[in-house]
Amino acid sequence: MNAQTILALFPEKFRERVEPYLEAVEVLGEMRDPKVAAALGPSGVRGLLLKRGKQGVPSLMPARHSAFFDWSYPNDHPEMRDLYRRAKEQQWDSDKTLDWAIDVDPLNPEVPIIPEAFLNLGKLQEYGIKLSSHERHGLRASLVSWQLSQFLHGEQGALFAAAQVTEAVQFFDGKLYGATQVMDEARHVEVFHRYLDTKLEKLYQINDNLFVIIDALMTDSRWDMKFLGMQIMVEGLALGAFGTLYKMTAEPLLKELLRYVIQDEARHVHYGVLALREHFNHHLSERERREREDWAFEVALLMRNRFLAYEVYDEWFAGTRLTRAQWRDVVYTSVGLEEFRQVMFRRLVPNLRAIGLLSDRIQPHYERVGLMKYFHERSADELSGEQLLAELDGSSPRATA
Ligand SMILES: [Fe+2]
Ligand SMILES: [Fe+2]
Repeated sequence: MNAQTILALFPEKFRERVEPYLEAVEVLGEMRDPKVAAALGPSGVRGLLLKRGKQGVPSLMPARHSAFFDWSYPNDHPEMRDLYRRAKEQQWDSDKTLDWAIDVDPLNPEVPIIPEAFLNLGKLQEYGIKLSSHERHGLRASLVSWQLSQFLHGEQGALFAAAQVTEAVQFFDGKLYGATQVMDEARHVEVFHRYLDTKLEKLYQINDNLFVIIDALMTDSRWDMKFLGMQIMVEGLALGAFGTLYKMTAEPLLKELLRYVIQDEARHVHYGVLALREHFNHHLSERERREREDWAFEVALLMRNRFLAYEVYDEWFAGTRLTRAQWRDVVYTSVGLEEFRQVMFRRLVPNLRAIGLLSDRIQPHYERVGLMKYFHERSADELSGEQLLAELDGSSPRATA
């Protein structure tokens, strides 16, 4: 019996309160591999059931890992050394590079931050929700703030994960490169927060699923799991999402901000691919590789199925006639949000292939959830930030204002 069948047995008021928790139990119950469930389970309980990210107080996540010192300072990875050199050259100062004097009005239809077609308003209407023009702009502004808030929370995770991995990784060239990434992530936290705080004037709490992933990788003592979770999964997906928003937005400050962030992120994912390809191919047993392969698949599903802007639903529609199931339907049928989900995986899947986590054994599972179509796309080590941006600039947005 699934959550929806159980829920149908209860009165509506009760249903609304209980549904998020039943969904959480379903997420954890769906995990195929008991080892993966054991690895993600405690984070799942903290994020999905206890909602630790939403209590309005700082979260303390115990971090256990060994710092790897090398007193011989080897030049052990020329490609990482080259990334380090490029990262130093491409540092930018957000105060000087971005024009913060630009006036941003998220409700101004003349300069839409995201296009009208982003959300399926027709579907909302089918469910009896009629919005005025002002409300429609407001709802879109909420969705942008929500999306950018999740980017910001992800960047905080990336900042700490980059710092931990810099200590723990065994490649000395990787450590030097990692230090530049720590700086990059600090800048990303700074610019996303500044944009939300001073331009959109709104900050949403962290999405429960994102909390689970961050909690899982911060508390895992194995550096390569942190790396896989952050550099490949969270950053890979974020890079896709940044690209989609970059392509869709007509707001010049946000577009410029994303352009700079995308260039940094392309280096980060490139580094992730280099380090993990080497590590998975040469330093892990087949059993350990399989464990990572299963973990990556479950995390991909967690991101794919559950990134549904419930925080926006709670703000706008909780307690109205629109149920969470109907909201999900609105999200699944929205051109803009669907584009996000598609592009995110277009970036992620080739990277999983490149690091050796898409073996014949796991491919049928990706096929089943419709993600194998991205298998032959270019991975991050074959695609620089400049190429990525040129591709985005050259293509016309699928959803237009
Ligand atoms: Fe970042
Ligand atoms: Fe990053």
